Amino acid sequence: MTDVPATAAEESASESMTTRGEGRSRRPDSDAFRAFMASGWGERITMPLERLGAADYLPARALTAGQPFAGQRLVVPAGTFKVRSNDCDYRFRAHSAFAHLSGLGGEREPDAVLVLEPKESGGHEAVLYFKPRASRTSKEFYADSRYGEFWVGARPSLEEVTTQTGLRCAHIDTLRDALAKDAGQVDIRIVRGVDAHIESTVEEIRTQAGLPVGEDARPEDERFEEHLSEIRLRKDPFEQAELRRAVEVTKRGFDDILKALPRAVGHRRGERVIEGAFGAVAREEGNGLGYDTIAASGNHANTLHWIDNDGPVNEGDLVLVDAGVEVDSLYTADITRTLPVNGVFNDVQARVYQAVLDACEAALARANEPGCRFQDVHDAAMQVIATRLREWGILPVSVEEALSAEGQQHRRWMPHGTCHHLGLDVHDCAQARREMYQEALLEPGMVFTIEPGLYFRADDELIPAEYRGIGVRIEDDVLVNEDGSVTRISEDIPRTIAEVEAWIAAAQGR
Ligand code: GLY
Ligand code: MN
Ligand code: MN
Repeated sequence: MTDVPATAAEESASESMTTRGEGRSRRPDSDAFRAFMASGWGERITMPLERLGAADYLPARALTAGQPFAGQRLVVPAGTFKVRSNDCDYRFRAHSAFAHLSGLGGEREPDAVLVLEPKESGGHEAVLYFKPRASRTSKEFYADSRYGEFWVGARPSLEEVTTQTGLRCAHIDTLRDALAKDAGQVDIRIVRGVDAHIESTVEEIRTQAGLPVGEDARPEDERFEEHLSEIRLRKDPFEQAELRRAVEVTKRGFDDILKALPRAVGHRRGERVIEGAFGAVAREEGNGLGYDTIAASGNHANTLHWIDNDGPVNEGDLVLVDAGVEVDSLYTADITRTLPVNGVFNDVQARVYQAVLDACEAALARANEPGCRFQDVHDAAMQVIATRLREWGILPVSVEEALSAEGQQHRRWMPHGTCHHLGLDVHDCAQARREMYQEALLEPGMVFTIEPGLYFRADDELIPAEYRGIGVRIEDDVLVNEDGSVTRISEDIPRTIAEVEAWIAAAQGR
């Protein structure tokens, strides 16, 4: 399907390459046709609109977001469509800072902009600018494949989004004037790199108002982006509940993977069978995947971001699956389980798996101690990993030397970090300053992963042959409670050797 131009005049006009693709079909465009298309419609058949769960939290988020930028106008674009190829776009997914401050999930709302407008009384008011659905008398109604009701369904009205979010809403066509109002007296900040059109509008307004532009405005813009990342480090109760739900449905995805394992073994691209089984649950139960699923069997597990998933799944191998469902509010889980394909770990696999599990437990225990900094959790896991590698005769230096800043030899077999914040992004809060992230104390409301691993590549000549080709990661999602203790919110997803073997047996009716 494609929308097309129209008039005879257009059709006879000399074609430019940019419009050539529009010539595949013919659409009537007479006044009579437009009038016909606008007539004869009854009440729209729509679902009743309910207030979003996030709505109660939006005023507090706006207040915190604006707090260091008193008197400034703060612009947070949702972003626009990204072309996948030719005239096909990817599904729209809003920038996470926008999703956080608007509460809008799913595919809402392309080209929208959230503005934190400074109030005379202090603080900011969040105003949401977007393109509401056009009337049925418009050409957009039937002829616009990106926004038209015939093509993408009835988009919401301003009033409907106010009902859902509690935010004041305004038409996107009024945004420019709203941004330009009092500019000069009011400075403007924008999250860069999200929507080039909005960014250039802001630059124009800054120029006209004599405000710093371009590189002169960059440091303050980036401070704003950094702040928006940092205010998400601690999750509010709504976010915590959404993350728990994301983990819950991710477990269902893993359950279906186990059921699909026999079919995966019989398929030349068994890893794709696993990927597909999880992906179906992600779309059925949530918005989709939080990130591309890693389904890595045998030696593929040692390629950390193995997302080709085009290999076989062989009996006797381990298959590492790193997958997370992003729920409709856009919060995602991030879970890894490493599964024995035939349901039972052999001795070497069990030895490696248990070492990784011990590292998980050590990291969790450290996180539960008072005064734990984020980076201490990683250090606790590395102590175990280095110790086991030394016991197995693999680590060529002492544990102490390996753990020193100059050593780090154990990282050959565990090259990634053990923890990252989790939320709207799988690697959430990535723009936060180091002192707010790695060096910060764990605080209530933080949600992060614990995900040590051991990766023994098939061509690694520094390890005994029996380890080669084995890769194991175990990844859990944890929440810091109000009392400072830590809960593994993925505790219902089996992970000890006995639990995993029993889980596979039960899923396959054995
Ligand atoms: N799934 C990406 C990660 O574990 O960080
Ligand atoms: Mn992770
Ligand atoms: Mn992961």
